[in-house]
Amino acid sequence: MDAYWGWWIVAAVLAGAELVTNTFYLLAIAVALAAGGVAAFLGLSSEWQWALAVALGIALTFVAHRWRTRRLQPTPQEPADIGNSVRVILDSDYDPAELFRDETATERTVEESLRICAPVHIFQRWALEPAEIDGIEFKRGDKVSMILAAANLDPAKFSDPLAFKPDRNEAPNLSFGAGIHFCIGAPLARLELNVVLPILFKRLPGLKLAKTPVVKDVYHFHGLDRLDLVC
Ligand code: HEM
Repeated sequence: MDAYWGWWIVAAVLAGAELVTNTFYLLAIAVALAAGGVAAFLGLSSEWQWALAVALGIALTFVAHRWRTRRLQPTPQEPADIGNSVRVILDSDYDPAELFRDETATERTVEESLRICAPVHIFQRWALEPAEIDGIEFKRGDKVSMILAAANLDPAKFSDPLAFKPDRNEAPNLSFGAGIHFCIGAPLARLELNVVLPILFKRLPGLKLAKTPVVKDVYHFHGLDRLDLVC
């Protein structure tokens, strides 16, 4: 087999993996390896093939990293939830100084913000066996969407569910999911929110909404496109 096929086969495998994982890094390396294949095809020595592939791999990994962070920046859950919480708090009639007066009050404020404005709206599951839930029949293989954000507003679990009431002492919210796939990062996300929000409102006690916040037009990683604030 000619040397260039080796480069291209590995590049194709990585490109396939990229389609599944959506990381951008695998795509960057796949392109670099494909370039190594082109160098081999053009008859360059194996040193030059490697030099080209490695140099391009490093450069494209940087590009992929830049692109990935830019693309993901507005969407990961915690920034989304910090924005959601700030908006919910400023939209409420509560005084932030009261909401964050101590650790217990802070924790309740954070949980209530997570409940009323879940950053992750929907997760999906597939039925492994026939089941009936609340009169609805599921066959094996049925795809089920769990709308976590709606579960957080269930009037059977939360009184006056659309109201922001940090002192409510009711069911736990489902913003981090439930069961074996319960969010592994929940303690970290909760810690961040419990640390960041009191600091923000303490440093900027006069914080107000400057304009109506613009909600992002996506169902996943529910968050804001714009949150204009004044002090
Ligand atoms: C406000 C922030 C966050 C929210 C709202 C959130 C939400 C969720 C939800 C709803 C699930 C369940 C998915 C399912 O049921 O299939 C989940 C799973 C997961 N989360 Fe988070 N998440 C947050 C932050 C984080 C952070 C900071 C990390 C990592 C450091 C993380 C890592 C994970 C992982 C690895 C899973 C998969 C767990 C499994 O499948 O067993 N999350 N997250």
